[in-house]
Amino acid sequence: MARAKIALIGAGQIGGTLAHLAALKELGDVVLFDIAEGTPQGKALDIAESAPVDGFDAVLKGTNDYADIAGADVCIVTAGVPRKPGMSRDDLLGINLKVMKSVGEGIAANAPNAFVICITNPLDAMVWALREFSGLPHEKVCGMAGILDSARFRHFLADEFEVSVKDVTAFVLGGHGDTMVPLSRYSTVAGIPLPDLVEMGWTSQEKLDAIIQRTRDGGAEIVGLLGNGSAFYAPAASAIEMAEAYLKDQKRLLPCAAYIKSALGVKDLYVGVPTVIGAGGIEKIVEIKLNKDEQAMFDKSVEAVRGLVSACKEIDSSLG
Ligand code: APR
Repeated sequence: MARAKIALIGAGQIGGTLAHLAALKELGDVVLFDIAEGTPQGKALDIAESAPVDGFDAVLKGTNDYADIAGADVCIVTAGVPRKPGMSRDDLLGINLKVMKSVGEGIAANAPNAFVICITNPLDAMVWALREFSGLPHEKVCGMAGILDSARFRHFLADEFEVSVKDVTAFVLGGHGDTMVPLSRYSTVAGIPLPDLVEMGWTSQEKLDAIIQRTRDGGAEIVGLLGNGSAFYAPAASAIEMAEAYLKDQKRLLPCAAYIKSALGVKDLYVGVPTVIGAGGIEKIVEIKLNKDEQAMFDKSVEAVRGLVSACKEIDSSLG
């Protein structure tokens, strides 16, 4: 059977890391696309030259021509600009919206059957715009955020409890921004919910609140430390988990920015929710029960995403 084809639109920090991970995991052959000449070609060759050492079989190609993504099974989009210290993800909207237009058209013309994972920020609005510009089915276009936000939460919790990250699960819902909703009740250590762990004296409510805030600010913390660019290792690992779930029809239950026709009190919007990812793309949205406070936080996050979508429509009247 022919190998799967994975197209990476944007060959910057995240794009290069995605290519490396996809090759190491032998998910398929990789095409790196970028408007910058030389960058995708250089990264593809560099990774290909690591194959004899690491022992993976994958063809890697760098290109500036959309025709080379033809027939891709998965497209992961990181094209655009990352934020600089002091910027919020929302500050990127104007520039990255234009990029989504050209990427959406490129994917529609060359890889209309692909499962598309958007990473470009501000995530929830960009994945919505990418879907509009590409015209692909909603269940085949989604955004990576929830796995990353949950992974940050899990890392901080594992560190606090001095247990393996493998035994910590966490849920983060809502938009990929300051209003994201880390859900303590649905986050556990080996099945024990966080509120029970507070009662058991594993941590205090104050420490847990601080971890939740650090999770919300997780992206900014990295931006501040790097001083030049934003996080790329954990975002790439998170998107690869989604691509693998699709390519291997794993039916993984993963939080991601998915199109909600009508669920969880939301209509016609992309926002972070638990989903099932398999060969059909986003096969299901899992309607977990939220209590009053959680629903209020989720609603606030949804409103923030709606504001960004409205801003996109104001900038580009074709999105009306
Ligand atoms: N088409 C294709 N590639 C583009 C386009 C375009 N229209 N515009 C810019 N690019 C490319 C740039 O040339 C660059 O190589 O996108 C790449 C972005 O890479 P980086 O600047 O290294 O950014 P990265 O850290 O990978 O983040 C990309 O993901 O997490 C988000 O906020 C982040 O929006 C940012 C995106």
